[in-house]
Amino acid sequence: MNEFIEALKKRRSIYMLGRNVKMPQDEIEELVKEVVELSPTAFNSQSQRVVILFDKAHEKVWDFTEAELKKVTPADRFPTTQAKIKGFRDAYGTILFFEDQETVKALQKKFPTYADNFPIWSEQASGLTTSNVWTALATAGIGANIQHYNPLIDEDVAAEWKLPANWKLRSQMVFGSTEAEAQPKEFMDRGSRFKTFH
Ligand SMILES: Cc1cc2nc3c(=O)[nH]c(=O)nc-3n(C[C@H](O)[C@H](O)[C@H](O)COP(=O)(O)O)c2cc1C
Repeated sequence: MNEFIEALKKRRSIYMLGRNVKMPQDEIEELVKEVVELSPTAFNSQSQRVVILFDKAHEKVWDFTEAELKKVTPADRFPTTQAKIKGFRDAYGTILFFEDQETVKALQKKFPTYADNFPIWSEQASGLTTSNVWTALATAGIGANIQHYNPLIDEDVAAEWKLPANWKLRSQMVFGSTEAEAQPKEFMDRGSRFKTFH
């Protein structure tokens, strides 16, 4: 049995999340910080920025999301939207993942040959960091899902927590106790997906 594969199997999109989390908040915080630090970035640029929200702050980000969605959702569809957002608010916490655009620009200036690649690598770093945090939470018995209400909520988030303008919000990870397991996942035919040559 490969421990990494076992960890990856534990990571799923969990939508029924509750507040019955046993792990202390400072330990969750430390876990997230370590995982982010240990995740690779192009040229070790460490472009990821992360905000961890618990309690009132966690609820606030979903209040912002609901308020912003209300402005853009037809009235007859809003109750469904509202119920979905309530599901996220009823979870235990939210992690906001950002990418620092100043870091990206500085790299473009320093290494003009790769200028076009740095924004792409920044996105890739964000994706793999997010995945690492998601998997780490799963191994700690904490369920999570990932949402993308950026850029809708960018201004509210930056204003509320006084974040630098160069922090670009990339995703929101909702986490908590797993109240319902994910359904088994189907995989596409390996023959169409992989090739090996010798
Ligand atoms: C780049 C990326 C973006 C995603 N965006 C969303 C999202 O906005 N909302 C959502 O509910 N799930 C989102 N997901 C979760 C996927 O739908 C999910 O990972 C996929 O269906 C496989 O299920 P699993 O996570 O249980 O393995 C995203 C996943 C990835 C990798």
